[in-house]
Amino acid sequence: MKFFIDTANMEEIKQAHELGVLAGVTTNPSLVAREKGVSFHDRLKEITSLVKESVSAEVIALDFEGMMAEAQELIAIAPNITIKVPMTPDGLKAVAALTKQGVKTNVTLIFSANQALLAARAGATYVSPFLGRLDDIGQNGLDLISDIADIFAIHDINAEIIAASIRHPMHITEAALKGAHIATIPYKVLMQLFHHPLTDKGIEAFLKDWNSRTEA
Ligand code: E4P
Repeated sequence: MKFFIDTANMEEIKQAHELGVLAGVTTNPSLVAREKGVSFHDRLKEITSLVKESVSAEVIALDFEGMMAEAQELIAIAPNITIKVPMTPDGLKAVAALTKQGVKTNVTLIFSANQALLAARAGATYVSPFLGRLDDIGQNGLDLISDIADIFAIHDINAEIIAASIRHPMHITEAALKGAHIATIPYKVLMQLFHHPLTDKGIEAFLKDWNSRTEA
């Protein structure tokens, strides 16, 4: 399973990029709205000048023509822009049209296996099931990842599953075990993945022993 970062914050993207584990970035309108004083397009220019892998940029329009017009502007920013569209009939029409143009797409707001199957059949490069938001309403987000992974394997479907709406480190382990290809992770959760008390204790003990050594 690969790691994407789920943010439009440049500092977080830089920090994550320096770690050497980043395979892409996802943004959404809410994440972009948190970034004050910078336009969406300018932020995408900044992100794509640093990250050369997939950078998802979401369209705001809800109608096919509007989505296509926005998508053309977004793909003009950089060749690694992936167009993110909502899981609607117009969204999937846009996916089919963009796929014919050779543009990568990410279908967002997926909450059922049927939605994922539809998105994949329209040609989506990525499907994004939202784990945390399903957990929030008492449904099991990880079961959804598992179902989608099984269906894609049975039917030899190439669309990649992005585990989205990640809230904590166990989501990452479980999503990887259930067959997600990618997890898109908030910066805070990415950093939490590094921590283990025995790692900290081990470093402390190694340093203590090193500093107490007597050279022959
Ligand atoms: C995915 O692409 C979305 O940007 C994101 O994971 C949504 O997560 P949230 O439910 O924490 O807003």
